Amino acid sequence: MPHIFPPQHHESLTKAVETLQKGGVVAFATETVYGLGANALNGEAVARIYAAKGRPSFNPLIVHVADKQDCAHYAEITPLAAQLLAAFAPGALTLVLNRKADCPLSSLVSAGLNTVALRVPAHPVAQNLLKAAGLPIAAPSANRSGRISPTKAKHVAEEFADMPELMIMDGGNAPIGLESTVVDARGHAPVLLRPGAITPEMLEQATGIACLLPDAAPEVFHSPGQMQSHYAPHRPVRLNITHAQIGEALLGFGHMPKATLNLSPTGDLVEAAAKLFDYLRELDREPFTAIAVAPIPHEGIGIAINDRLHRAAAPR
Ligand code: TXA
Ligand code: MG
Repeated sequence: MPHIFPPQHHESLTKAVETLQKGGVVAFATETVYGLGANALNGEAVARIYAAKGRPSFNPLIVHVADKQDCAHYAEITPLAAQLLAAFAPGALTLVLNRKADCPLSSLVSAGLNTVALRVPAHPVAQNLLKAAGLPIAAPSANRSGRISPTKAKHVAEEFADMPELMIMDGGNAPIGLESTVVDARGHAPVLLRPGAITPEMLEQATGIACLLPDAAPEVFHSPGQMQSHYAPHRPVRLNITHAQIGEALLGFGHMPKATLNLSPTGDLVEAAAKLFDYLRELDREPFTAIAVAPIPHEGIGIAINDRLHRAAAPR
């Protein structure tokens, strides 16, 4: 099994930095989900991430940096990007921007596109690793491609049980529990490529510009990773269910005394987001035949929850 290291464990931080510098892969906590990281300047190191995840090579990775100032080394910062960084970095926001002409990042992180996705994570475990390594770290979520994202160190260890040498920098339960909001910030208006904890309303409030959805211009904007089937448990998932069938697990929301597990008995969407991936994993087991999920209000972070649930339920 991979090794799980507690935060503030200085020897493990030193070893993780050495691993990254040598082109290896390290898993670490962020406030959204756990990431599987490698040196974004080193193509071979980035290739190891694709190999470990079984990720299709056309799906680009997010590059994590310690400070918002670092983004300008790698990408062209539009006025919109500057506004969004000022409002939301560090945090759960990823910006897709044009790569600078002399961008030193491996072209693999961009999967051959001329854009790059950048994020400044706020979690102290991610921050400490980025600062100690002094490197940009390419990191997708630390799950096998197409599967449920990890919100605990234990989930990462289960996903990569066949990589006994993998180091996991533990940061406890990921406080947000859903991947970052991905925004294309190359133009005048923010284009939402993946919903997350930073909602369209928050983006609009920070910029004063209405947020576009990729459906508005699918030929121009798309995110290669937003595949229909994703975040998928092994069992089938059925949505908007209030009464499960015999044999099914019921994942509840709000007052539902018959739920097998409840994302938030009080109907709190932030709590539900933090528990979603953990509970989907918990219910993906014998004796259940399927996972039936209660209706989730489509507002605020509920939009991101429903996005993940629709992909989890999509035909495989
Ligand atoms: O919260 C998160 O974002 C986590 C943590 C570890 O930072 N990372 C994460 O990475 O969710 P990943 O690889 O699972 O998802 C990255 C998403 C994918 O949908 C990918 O297609 C999109 O970002 N993406 C990355 N680079 C892009 C680019 N240049 N253009 C458009 N979309 C891009
Ligand atoms: Mg992912």
